[in-house]
Amino acid sequence: MITTGTPPLIRLDRSPAPSASWPAIVTLLAEAGPDTALTAAGLDDRVQRKLAALAADGEFTGAAGQVLLLHADTESAIQRILFVGLGPRSGLTVDGLRRASATATRRLLDAGIGTWALRVPIVPDQAALDAASLAQALAEGVLLAGYRFTAYTTGATAGRPPCRVDTVTLWAPDAPPVDGDLTGAVPGDTGTALARGLQRGTLVGEAVWLARDLCNHPGNVLTPERFAEAACTVAREAGLQAEVIDVDGLQRLEMGGLLAVGAGSRQPPRLVVLDYCPAGVSPERPLVLIGKTVTFDSGGISLKVALDMEQMKADMTGGAAVLAALRAAARSGLRRRIVALFAVVENMPGGAAMRPGDILRMASGTTVEVLNTDAEGRLILADALCHARRYEPECVIDVATLTGASAIVFGDAFNALFATAPDYARRMQAAGAFSGERLWPMPLDEAYATQLRSDVADLRNVAGQKGAMPIAAAFLQHFAAGMPWLHLDIYNTCWNSTDHPCLPKGATGSGTRVLTQFLLDLEFMTLLP
Ligand code: BES
Ligand code: MN
Ligand code: ZN
Repeated sequence: MITTGTPPLIRLDRSPAPSASWPAIVTLLAEAGPDTALTAAGLDDRVQRKLAALAADGEFTGAAGQVLLLHADTESAIQRILFVGLGPRSGLTVDGLRRASATATRRLLDAGIGTWALRVPIVPDQAALDAASLAQALAEGVLLAGYRFTAYTTGATAGRPPCRVDTVTLWAPDAPPVDGDLTGAVPGDTGTALARGLQRGTLVGEAVWLARDLCNHPGNVLTPERFAEAACTVAREAGLQAEVIDVDGLQRLEMGGLLAVGAGSRQPPRLVVLDYCPAGVSPERPLVLIGKTVTFDSGGISLKVALDMEQMKADMTGGAAVLAALRAAARSGLRRRIVALFAVVENMPGGAAMRPGDILRMASGTTVEVLNTDAEGRLILADALCHARRYEPECVIDVATLTGASAIVFGDAFNALFATAPDYARRMQAAGAFSGERLWPMPLDEAYATQLRSDVADLRNVAGQKGAMPIAAAFLQHFAAGMPWLHLDIYNTCWNSTDHPCLPKGATGSGTRVLTQFLLDLEFMTLLP
């Protein structure tokens, strides 16, 4: 199986006193107000005095993102204490806590520490944060920040190997709350909520690890064939049915889009179908997920420029997100049938490659004039959408690194959401807000669809630069017609070149968090009438 490391263990500990076996303890502190001092409940007086002195000097105030690593004096059981600022206590959010936990993770790994306890803070009521969300955010922070891709480093050139997260304890002692501090008592029934949140955070974080691994493996290793193998391994482990459709099968299905995109590569394309249908659950009207899984996008004959082209190994982020989220849903025992379709292909300019001007007949029978072979994502998704129709889905959701325009529009602050299923769109947006992968609704409109008319075929695959993102969506909409449908364009967030606490450099596995959260939240969804 193509993965690099086992995600670390995160566990919950509710014992009243800190354990002497913890090499470090993390305390998250909100900014001191006019009436409140910075105090870290449960830690001894010497630590409190130190903290007061630091606050008095303005060296540590609890401002968001502040970090301070202290060596405790030798009498103390715990050798190190890490303070992380949360900012004003009234402005606390799930994302703020996730980021604080991620910041702590980075700082401790930098110091060579892989095992620590993170004191679970009690947040004030007005922050509207329940215990489950709190634990989930803290666990996610550890896993998102603790990811490293080390599959190919042999140690031949690097110095000290990077420290990895070993074991993290979420420490929620039954201590009384202390004024001015967010740490303190956890009421008895909160224990189960914390455990449930920890479980969800673990599911989300482990999903992101899988997605990032898949995207970080290079195109020469992670070929369509290897992706299909990885999907089958996940299926076997998670109890899903798997079917891999090879070129013969694609020809029988007349998938002219997927076959044409794959034609320029020595690596043959695949359509992978995973089916999660838990016993006792109605197989009718499943949810169908579709992932754009281009293992490498060179652009084909419409070759991309050389700069940054290596990032195009992450053009399978949509597929990786779908696979990882489906595994999480299956592990959580979700009571809902979900079918996942992966259009898996490498876009290369080989001798058999499709050319600009070629006219393709898609699985749906629609003909498409290819004006740019780099607009390959929509060609393979069109065939996958056609395949989705046979399941009579309640909703189809595709996730795709589809357009460069997504980066022009959003930077990396949001991903685009196109929808013909308002209720699902609302749920997806809510999952986005919670997960930290926020979505912004975008228009589907005739004004875009009409630009895709071709002189020689039913459609053309591109139409100029203006409005490139909604035009790409309009292309997909043609093939999704009549099915409730969501489309997430995530190109803009699939790669990270600048460091961020939750996102190590390289493939981000974006889309995984929002999709996993969306699926886990379906547990609470009452079926539509
Ligand atoms: N996977 C790419 C997205 C992308 C865009 C990557 C820009 C790197 C830079 C997608 O397949 C693609 O190439 N999209 C093109 C389509 C264009 C040719 C109509 C884009 O958005 O530039
Ligand atoms: Mn492309
Ligand atoms: Zn692409």
